[in-house]
Amino acid sequence: MTETRTAAELDEEAAVRRSLEDYYRDGEPPWDTGVTPPELVALVEGPGALTPGRALELGCGTGTNAVYLARHGWRVVAVDFVHRAVQQAREKAGAAGAAGADVTVLCGDATRLDELDVSGPYDLFFDLSCFCVIPAHRRDAYAAGLTRRAAPGARFLMFGYGPEVFEDPISGVTADELRSRFAGWELTDVTPGTNPFPTFWFTLHRTADGAA
Ligand SMILES: C[S@@+](CC[C@H](N)C(=O)[O-])C[C@H]1O[C@@H](n2cnc3c(N)ncnc32)[C@H](O)[C@@H]1O
Repeated sequence: MTETRTAAELDEEAAVRRSLEDYYRDGEPPWDTGVTPPELVALVEGPGALTPGRALELGCGTGTNAVYLARHGWRVVAVDFVHRAVQQAREKAGAAGAAGADVTVLCGDATRLDELDVSGPYDLFFDLSCFCVIPAHRRDAYAAGLTRRAAPGARFLMFGYGPEVFEDPISGVTADELRSRFAGWELTDVTPGTNPFPTFWFTLHRTADGAA
């Protein structure tokens, strides 16, 4: 299907992408800590840990968490649209792959998954600050892409900045927005992050084809 986008929408997409590319070009972006957040560790290793299956990470950056998941038995596909980040993620994935971990890193747009080799279905989706920087007019496409690829009962763990943390074009995310954009999913948990500005961990369950 042909996409129709206004000039303003195209400008906004380009501005977001440029600002993210600049972060990676200028060195190590502030978020690239190399540390897997405890919220993901709890899901993978904690009491009631998920059974490893197929995972899709959106906006994987340099691949720390994709590799973490793969090292814990998940078959992982990770997507980011900044080439420099993808290169670094592939280097980490290569080292992990040599040790038996199953992780594939793709360069592409998380709101245009049909253009990538990511058919799924996936049991787990992980997004650490990607959705919250996506322009509003692309967010329904992002949600539809995940919904089409979700296994029954799939889990989605997302971390996002609240609105107004950054000046435009970085726009943030709210629980109400997720409830309205993710049809067929239930938002089962919202936990504030520990940052000095508003951040949230959101958990969604795919409900239309399976129980939450
Ligand atoms: C704040 S960074 C976080 C990166 C990584 N999740 C981490 O925590 O280290 C957001 C990431 O999402 C990626 N991103 C943003 N919009 C995207 C899109 N539409 N498609 C693919 N990647 C995107 C950016 O390139 C960037 O790597």
